[in-house]
Amino acid sequence: MIDINKLNRCTLINDNCFSVLKQMPDNSVDLILTDPPYNIAQYSTGNIHFDWRSDINNDLAEWDLKPLKPIDLMPEFKRILSPTGNIFIFCSYNMIGEYHKVFDPEFDTFQFMVWHKTNPVPNFRKSSFLNSCELIVSCWNKGHTWNFTNQKDMHNFIECGICMGKERIKDSEGKSLHPTQKPVEILKKIISIASDKDDLVFDCFSGVGSTGEAAMRLNRRFLGVEIEKRYFKASENRLKLISDELKNGGNNLGFINEMA
Ligand SMILES: C[S@@+](CC[C@H](N)C(=O)[O-])C[C@H]1O[C@@H](n2cnc3c(N)ncnc32)[C@H](O)[C@@H]1O
Repeated sequence: MIDINKLNRCTLINDNCFSVLKQMPDNSVDLILTDPPYNIAQYSTGNIHFDWRSDINNDLAEWDLKPLKPIDLMPEFKRILSPTGNIFIFCSYNMIGEYHKVFDPEFDTFQFMVWHKTNPVPNFRKSSFLNSCELIVSCWNKGHTWNFTNQKDMHNFIECGICMGKERIKDSEGKSLHPTQKPVEILKKIISIASDKDDLVFDCFSGVGSTGEAAMRLNRRFLGVEIEKRYFKASENRLKLISDELKNGGNNLGFINEMA
């Protein structure tokens, strides 16, 4: 079993989250904020090619080809969540019904947020809506941590562009490394509402470490798990830079290659 109190304040594990989840103690996490594979690669019509810009990655990535079901996540999420905890899961349109079916009976409340992307991929054929919204399902039990601000700021709707420019993590050729990197602005908003300082935020599909950056910036503890080495390495570099910027000298960072 992982001793959560012995982990570094911000810890990233390069492993399969299903084996890590089994080693997490009961009631040990204050906020599960994660972005699992979406199961949408199956609907893809392939990448969109342009002469004047890089291809738009429409078939997402290999990690999205392996189906992941909400029922694979729910029992462990329920077990590791503290009684005051919250769960937020990024979710594609095709999965919302399944998340509701599996999570709603197990928690006091099930809600969702809509992220409106202000800069979605254009539709040059003008043949359908733009794909400009993404869903985030959320659930909790009575007594959960909830930092309500004012009515205006508590709509379950958030507007923010997809990651661009300096925020986007690049590979050695200067191309975007991760096709679904999430904006830190959204993650910070969720973390601020649904957790307190020093709480443990857990992201078991952590990609290039966006939730880790948001948690560090808001003075939360963080535990992330990412299976792909190149994303794990990029997160390591990213979180070290954030640590330097925040002037905690990297003392609080821990990077683990597979749990024993
Ligand atoms: C939707 S992406 C998350 C992107 C992340 N929010 C970010 O901003 O970088 C899902 C990630 O889960 C990872 N993944 C898929 N299956 C996994 C597993 N069983 N254990 C850990 N990570 C996994 C993929 O490699 C991918 O990076």
